[in-house]
Amino acid sequence: MKTRTEFVCTDCGAVSARWLGRCRECGAWNTLEERAQPARAAPERRSRAVDPDSNAPVRLADVSTTQQARLQTGIAELDRVLGGGLVRGSVALLGGEPGMGKSTLLLQALASIGASAGKVLYVTGEESARQIRLRADRLGIGSDDLLLLCESETESILAHLRETQPRAVVIDSIQTASVETVRSAPGSVAQIRESAAAFIAFAKSSETPVFLVGHVTKEGTIAGPRVLEHMVDTVLMFEGDLHHAYRLIRATKNRFGSTNELAVFEMTERGLAEVANPSALFLSQRTAGVSGSVVVCAMEGSRPLLLELQALVAPARYGAPMRVSTGFDRSRVAMLLAVLEKRGGIALQNADVFVNVTGGVELDEPAADLGMVAAIASNYRDAPVSPKTVLLGEVGLAGEVRAVSRLPQRLAEAAKLGFERAVVPKSQAAKSASDGSGGIQVVGVDTVGQALGILI
Ligand code: TYD
Ligand code: MG
Repeated sequence: MKTRTEFVCTDCGAVSARWLGRCRECGAWNTLEERAQPARAAPERRSRAVDPDSNAPVRLADVSTTQQARLQTGIAELDRVLGGGLVRGSVALLGGEPGMGKSTLLLQALASIGASAGKVLYVTGEESARQIRLRADRLGIGSDDLLLLCESETESILAHLRETQPRAVVIDSIQTASVETVRSAPGSVAQIRESAAAFIAFAKSSETPVFLVGHVTKEGTIAGPRVLEHMVDTVLMFEGDLHHAYRLIRATKNRFGSTNELAVFEMTERGLAEVANPSALFLSQRTAGVSGSVVVCAMEGSRPLLLELQALVAPARYGAPMRVSTGFDRSRVAMLLAVLEKRGGIALQNADVFVNVTGGVELDEPAADLGMVAAIASNYRDAPVSPKTVLLGEVGLAGEVRAVSRLPQRLAEAAKLGFERAVVPKSQAAKSASDGSGGIQVVGVDTVGQALGILI
């Protein structure tokens, strides 16, 4: 039989039937190498008897769920985004820009797991043991059960893991881990994929939870074409930027809990501190009575969060008017501006419009539409919206104010923080008022025009 050949990318491991100058998978140039195609066994045609040792179908109700018992990290906010703690044998990826606090948070979490559950292992390929020790001292943590390993070779790390049998592991970072048999440099897609696969296999076979730290590149992807995201069970991402003292972590994927949960931390001299009342924190720097500032209540996963929206409308002096948005979807802003022009009689074609969600939160909820519209109109007319008013409602193209999900929860959060009035969709107003909304006055509106009439 003639041996057939195929071509393999040395960077990402993609296989191609013919030689190409550029890898179709990772886009690298001149990385394809010829190799003999592995011989395939001829397909067996006869039907096989069931191997008594192989996995057999089981009734769903008979599947045991006890292995799902979770390990608490001792950091309530982290446990919450994980869906109630770490699931044994699960692999979580913590992504974020350098300097966000990934190493700090996981060292804190590991020390606390160590204190309650026993031996834990922190593997670093980035820093020296001394650096970690200094950080731990600064954080005021130290446990006899917290072990450090400075190593970046995956095989060697795995050997230590099998020997130490820790209760939880942190690999900081997956970009520094490398497998000897893969020839490309550490940090390349092939290396990351191989190393991650090895750690995942270890996690599953030993039932040990593993945290992988992943640096996010400028484009916002975790090293290479999101190779890790589909391999791991949970993806946690640091959100926002380094200029804020708050650090937000969102679960963008979770096989063991809901996604879009947001954890809020504050970076202090003693590491990341949990923020007990994030709504209060996000509103703490607000100057009341300024035009262009309103408060909305967004659902971040299962939790309502009060946020301030700001807008600034200024005459456009140079060429095309600018539309700048921080934390709010740009096309949504464009849509809302068009609605304002057409249905609210506010002419913005010669104005620069800047909008901002304070605190570095990325808002992707239509329930904030009404707030955004009001913030822009308020600044345009230079008329402040009453600071004790919260706005809730999705805005449609006809200028109608549409229903939002989980209104009672949002109203309760606003009432808790001392808001006195809520402007909500008319269709939901009667029900909220009869449900009793924690002493907050509920005002229903049908259209953007009505809302602006009440507010400004
Ligand atoms: P680090 O955890 O090293 O970030 P990452 O691993 O994501 O790159 O720390 C991030 C920043 O936090 C660093 O600039 C120093 C600062 N920091 C504090 O403000 N307080 C602290 O207690 C610690 C440990 C770090
Ligand atoms: Mg780090």
